[in-house]
Amino acid sequence: MSDDLLKKVISHAKEYGFVFPSSEIYDGLSAAYDYGQLGAELKNNIKHYWWTAMVRMHDNIVGLDASIFMHPTTWKASGHVDAFNDPLIDNKDSKKRYRADVLIEDHIGKIEAKIQKDVAKAAQRFGDAFDEAEFRSTNGRVLERQKQIDDINSQFKAAMGAEDLSAVKQLIEELGIADPDTGSRNWTDVRQFNLMFKTELGAVSGESGVIYLRPETAQGIFVNFLNVQKSGRMKIPFGIAQIGKAFRNEIIARQFIFRMREFEQMEMQFFVKPGTQNEWYAYWKEARLQWHKSLGLGDNLHRFHDHIKLAHYADAACDIEFNFPMGFKELEGIHSRTDFDLKQHEAHSNKKLRYFDPESQESYVPYVVETSIGLDRMFLATLSAALQEETLEDGSTRTVLRIPAPLSPVKAAILPLIKKDGLPEKAREVMALLQMDHNVQYDEKDAIGRRYRRQDAIGTPLCITVDHDTLTDHAVTIRDRDTMAQERVAIDQLAAVVAGKVSLAQLFKAS
Ligand code: GAP
Repeated sequence: MSDDLLKKVISHAKEYGFVFPSSEIYDGLSAAYDYGQLGAELKNNIKHYWWTAMVRMHDNIVGLDASIFMHPTTWKASGHVDAFNDPLIDNKDSKKRYRADVLIEDHIGKIEAKIQKDVAKAAQRFGDAFDEAEFRSTNGRVLERQKQIDDINSQFKAAMGAEDLSAVKQLIEELGIADPDTGSRNWTDVRQFNLMFKTELGAVSGESGVIYLRPETAQGIFVNFLNVQKSGRMKIPFGIAQIGKAFRNEIIARQFIFRMREFEQMEMQFFVKPGTQNEWYAYWKEARLQWHKSLGLGDNLHRFHDHIKLAHYADAACDIEFNFPMGFKELEGIHSRTDFDLKQHEAHSNKKLRYFDPESQESYVPYVVETSIGLDRMFLATLSAALQEETLEDGSTRTVLRIPAPLSPVKAAILPLIKKDGLPEKAREVMALLQMDHNVQYDEKDAIGRRYRRQDAIGTPLCITVDHDTLTDHAVTIRDRDTMAQERVAIDQLAAVVAGKVSLAQLFKAS
């Protein structure tokens, strides 16, 4: 069912110009995608929503646009050279490569699915009297399966913690995990694989000229911490926000634009006084969830996943997960990163990265709370929640993309009822009134009903029809995508009415 939805999203995205496989005429490149004419608009609108919420609406957050290439020592200091690895394993028969941790997670997922099945069966049997927590803590079979999961998790964590890759392989063999595609259990050893892409700078070849494509945008913010603080006379607490490309040589990149090798991040590092990080972490958790919910994509689509095992630099971390067609998965991370990054950069650069607090007259390395969201994942979340097939009252069906109006690629379609009698010219005049402020589209081809359907399928919230009466009453008909209700609006009111329905301010009013 969910696979079906993902397939529908992928084919809809291609058919209507949202996302194409990269270099498709050469049969594409795995895990690389191009955003088409409507995709580029949707992506820009998501960025605009994020930037407005983070930078414009907070007078203590400013933006930055750092370069993708950075001094290679940056990545030594951040820990990426030594520790940004995935454990990989190859199947000797199929020659396919997998992430060892993902094979183990998928195995655990199967056990979890069995527990879920038992829970669902019991819920059906007991009806309203069913208490899920009680059932999970007392049912013998569920407890046994939960113990299996806990054992696997602890063995895996111990092996990875001790960097004992042979123990990881042994676990895969003991669990009888087979190649998901072929069923073969003929595995190579597990090896660590660094996810950073390397290239060479200018004419210098060899290790000395090696530079990396950044695997996260955050480090561009850390290395500029003092530049921005001093030039912007920023007082702690303050944030630096950035939108930009990041690159990771993911071993398995799959599930459309969910996991790619080239993707875009929207990150914000919030610099705070040591000791206040917990309250700011709580603040950003709530603020970011609210940002997602204000879009109104649907109820129960978001949840927090608190990290139990923390990265060495974090003192608290969680994901905001979204119910994608493949189930709940990470959409955004919120991390309390302590002073790890700035201290590492101090140590590797021999430059002080400290803040002088004018009130307490002391100088310190700030702590950082980070919010980090993948733009492409946000795009997929929006598209997959918005795509709906509807049966109308007359029994006909329509495909409608209920993208929140302020994010829609095309805000309004201007439709002359017929192609003559001066209606196209009048429609062009109407279009000119709107196109400075909004992306609007003119369409005069086919019957009006078909034009409505085309606009529904690309998520256009408003269709504006110019008819014969328009020439005398100077009014147009606006049809709403979601309710399909129509209203007559005077042309001199049109700009205000359209803005009232599609401007970004609507989202902030809702929150
Ligand atoms: N600076 C912190 C950081 O990069 P992360 O959890 O590795 O943290 C943050 O990445 C976000 O970037 C994720 O929540 C996800 O939305 C997005 N992301 C990470 N890897 C991705 C990939 N291969 N393809 C698409 N988006 C990705």
